[in-house]
Amino acid sequence: MRILFIGDVVGSPGRDMVDEYLPKLKQKYQPAVTIINGENAAAGKGITEKIYRRFLEKGAQAVTLGNHSWDKQEIFEFIDHADYLVRPANFPEGTPGKGITYVKTPKTEVAVINLQGRTFLAPNDDPFRKIDDLIAEARKRTPIIFLDFHAEATSEKQAMGWYVDGRVSINVGTHTHIQTADERILPNGTAYISDVGMTGPYDGILGMEREAVLKRFLTNLPVRFEVPKKGRTQLSGFLVDVDEATGRATKVKRIQINEDHPFFG
Ligand SMILES: [Fe+2]
Repeated sequence: MRILFIGDVVGSPGRDMVDEYLPKLKQKYQPAVTIINGENAAAGKGITEKIYRRFLEKGAQAVTLGNHSWDKQEIFEFIDHADYLVRPANFPEGTPGKGITYVKTPKTEVAVINLQGRTFLAPNDDPFRKIDDLIAEARKRTPIIFLDFHAEATSEKQAMGWYVDGRVSINVGTHTHIQTADERILPNGTAYISDVGMTGPYDGILGMEREAVLKRFLTNLPVRFEVPKKGRTQLSGFLVDVDEATGRATKVKRIQINEDHPFFG
């Protein structure tokens, strides 16, 4: 089974890239399941119901979140009935939404899990202890487990990769918006990449207008970060083949589409 993941979609430039390239990627690679990280999809912070539904209409089967999960107020109105939207599972007990969902495929199903790191991020519950519980839960239904670990530090991400090796099929990292070139299949069969990278503006800084970010660095004055409306764009993704019987990854491919790395259909 082939699974496609699209890294952190930032604002309308990111959504436009999904609209343009998801059909082309699907045609070329024929993934059975597509998962999108949408935590920055609404103007760079958070997600709306309309955007979540649009991702599903465009061909995604599940959407993951992260530290910006709650940035759009309306999330609280729809998250509990958005079946294929997951927020980090290690958010405090009683938080709205859920951290695991299941996507059906013709022969089996894929467990989709979202977790958030704690290094340089909020002190949520321990993601390592949490993944143990979630793997046990998921394994009752399927050997195919996808984990989006939304974290800042590559050390914490690598630690998670080794911790879940052989127990999840795919462990992607998200959040830093910069794609890492360390994609691999770990010895016990987990497809791993520290960060898939971002889908959105190509010439900004982490997807935001670079003038504002530069001003912050140069002056330390408070500035408002916005997603640039115009300019070149990019898409970052990760493609994995998984053995349906064992849940082991057999092939990984990093995807980067931008003017320097054009897409060939
Ligand atoms: Fe994030």
